[in-house]
Amino acid sequence: MQFPEKIGTPLAANAIKVMLLGSGELGKEVIMAFQRLGVEVIAVDRYPNAPGHHVAHRFHVIDMTNAAQLKALIAQEKPHIVVPEIEAIATPALKELEAEGVVRVVPTANAAWLTMNREGIRRLAAEELSLACSHYAFADDFETLKKAVEIGLNGAAPVGYPCIIKPVMSSSGKGQSKVDGPHELQAAWDYAGSAGRVNAGRVIVESVIHFDYEITLLTVRSRNPVNKAIETSYCEPVGHIQVSGDYVESWQPQAMSPKALEAAKAMADKVTTALGGTGLFGVEMFVKGDVVWFSEVSPRPHDTGMVTMITQWQNEFELHARAILGLPTDTSLKSPGASAVIYGGMDKQGIAFEGVADALAEPGTDLRLFGKPESFLKRRMGVALARDPDVEQARLKAKRAAAKVKPVAS
Ligand SMILES: Nc1ncnc2c1ncn2[C@@H]1O[C@H](COP(=O)(O)OP(=O)(O)OP(=O)(O)O)[C@@H](O)[C@H]1O
Ligand SMILES: [Mg+2]
Repeated sequence: MQFPEKIGTPLAANAIKVMLLGSGELGKEVIMAFQRLGVEVIAVDRYPNAPGHHVAHRFHVIDMTNAAQLKALIAQEKPHIVVPEIEAIATPALKELEAEGVVRVVPTANAAWLTMNREGIRRLAAEELSLACSHYAFADDFETLKKAVEIGLNGAAPVGYPCIIKPVMSSSGKGQSKVDGPHELQAAWDYAGSAGRVNAGRVIVESVIHFDYEITLLTVRSRNPVNKAIETSYCEPVGHIQVSGDYVESWQPQAMSPKALEAAKAMADKVTTALGGTGLFGVEMFVKGDVVWFSEVSPRPHDTGMVTMITQWQNEFELHARAILGLPTDTSLKSPGASAVIYGGMDKQGIAFEGVADALAEPGTDLRLFGKPESFLKRRMGVALARDPDVEQARLKAKRAAAKVKPVAS
């Protein structure tokens, strides 16, 4: 099925069935967006009672990196559309199923496969599409890494110091470290090896970009309601701050020079067109003055884009659901706003939150508590949202609201 011509009734024979692979806080919102459009949704995650499990028609717990388990579940549930919501999935199995016409994968199985590995997406962006990126090299062992940084591989210029080392398969900053000089290289290599998801040992080393700010350009590929052509549209840029590779704060719009914005849109258009399909993409870029560097892209809603739950008429999750179903989309801004992350603050199951009424007492604030069954010290358990005509005020407001929410043991 490319786009459904009509939407049936959930749980009836004519239901349009969508399976979410990954049902965290982002998947949960995508599920709710589909639910509102009358779609039957099956939520899958690797642990029980994941946020999206709470709001789906059915839920399953499997190891999504296991091809056999993934194929068996798809054979059992027979979804029309599979929506990868995380990177750690047996994407070669999805490629097979897509090629056999068994399911449609969003945006395409190839996009899910390329973007789960930093090497796939970096080679596409830098080598095939000629997008400006940090200087980079790949290494499978410490000696090659050292050579890439200090001398250069195969005649290429050295990456140099400072640089950033990342496992090729990891997310949320896991296994990632900045290296300021030769004395820190071994520790960074060891750390990357301990934290990579699969394919332990292969790393990308990147030169550090000294940017003024970084953005996520939420980019939508959706069907024009009149001529049915696939078109690209952009949300206002989302600015954000990352600590140890994990987002702590985001806001929209991030002010950009007209030249930088134009360059960012051109890059986002190139990379999302190459990945293909329809849906929303989070294109991460670094900006200094009028100069823009491509960093990476998620072929799905982005954590920093949670701010759109308070800033846009159609948030990033609704845009994704609509684009997937071939429905019209509207990326326009409703109000400037901001988001601030609420961490668990402790390692414990079944925690509680105090201060919610306090946090929501300030006009123009909102909150999402994800309902994760287990808290970790640095696990994202919720997010505070705020709107204000002034984006700087919105940032302060979101941080005030987040600070008022206090995780407690019971
Ligand atoms: N080459 C670079 N130069 C400067 N900063 C960088 C570079 N690479 C990464 N960073 C910083 O580290 C952050 C995380 O990097 P990256 O997005 O590659 O990791 P990630 O693990 O995929 O994170 P996430 O999954 O949260 O997007 C970036 O948002 C940026 O702040
Ligand atoms: Mg990133």
